Amino acid sequence: MTPDPKGGAAAVELTDPQFSQLREFLYQRAGLHFADGKKFLLESRLQQRLRELDNLDVAGYLALVTSPARGADELRNLLDAVTTHETSFFRNRPQLEAFNKHVLRKLLEQRAAQQQRRLRIWSAACSSGEEPYTLAMMLIEVLGEEIKRWNVRIVGTDIAHNVLEKAKLGEYGRYSFRTTTAYFASKYFELRGRDLFCIRDEPRRLVEFMALNFADAASMRLMRDFDVIFCRNALIYFDLDAKRRFVAQFEQSLNAGGFLFVGHSESLHGVSEAFKLLHFPGALAYQKPLPH
Ligand SMILES: C[S@@+](CC[C@H](N)C(=O)[O-])C[C@H]1O[C@@H](n2cnc3c(N)ncnc32)[C@H](O)[C@@H]1O
Repeated sequence: MTPDPKGGAAAVELTDPQFSQLREFLYQRAGLHFADGKKFLLESRLQQRLRELDNLDVAGYLALVTSPARGADELRNLLDAVTTHETSFFRNRPQLEAFNKHVLRKLLEQRAAQQQRRLRIWSAACSSGEEPYTLAMMLIEVLGEEIKRWNVRIVGTDIAHNVLEKAKLGEYGRYSFRTTTAYFASKYFELRGRDLFCIRDEPRRLVEFMALNFADAASMRLMRDFDVIFCRNALIYFDLDAKRRFVAQFEQSLNAGGFLFVGHSESLHGVSEAFKLLHFPGALAYQKPLPH
């Protein structure tokens, strides 16, 4: 670490070989791709972790995180530090409205007609839980009292343990509501003090959280039998090869006829041809074809 001449926090500097080693390591372990221009980003995210380790230097840190004895624990901390967790309730409303109107309601109608009141949704890379709780609120709004007759599971997964802890706690500040109307905040959260919103039991009961790294192929294979997968604003952090592997796994995780939503600035163009592209007003979705 280089001391800050102004007496502030010491800045982390990665040499080019250290940057190469670290980004190769992150790519191998998590599929994360840090382009050449992202050295500064990696340095700034590493800074807090090195401070927590009594200002350990970068060489010492690389030895720690790659060590057979202590590396696995430290990898968790590293991934918590370097991943981007930006999210909010009801993020990208046009996409959620398309999901509600063109996918969810139809799926529910079909299932009810077949006397199979069961729905499984995976919020993949859910960060601190705003996305799966949003989906839970939407389901409660659509089904009303009927939801008691349904077997609904929403699974939120992420690689980062720090955000999953927050998701399980279900407590949020006002910033998480920047893309939400007051209606949802007051109906589905209990306000504690001036600024702490705690998710109520009804949406909480529908959601379970677990750690999952898309690069862990064995764990990914266990994710089965989903009707809808949301993997929004995560594919941008991977290179083409990793995207192809992860999306191929999502396809395996979906039931025939199931739907995949990616972020509104993301696409499966060049990534997968296994899905049918659906155009909705203000949103795209991908559908796993039904067998002929
Ligand atoms: C920007 S957030 C997206 C949150 C939410 N889906 C949304 O759109 O608001 C990206 C998330 O991807 C997670 N992530 C990054 N690499 C991952 C990996 N290899 N496996 C699973 N999750 C990963 C990060 O920890 C982060 O929480």
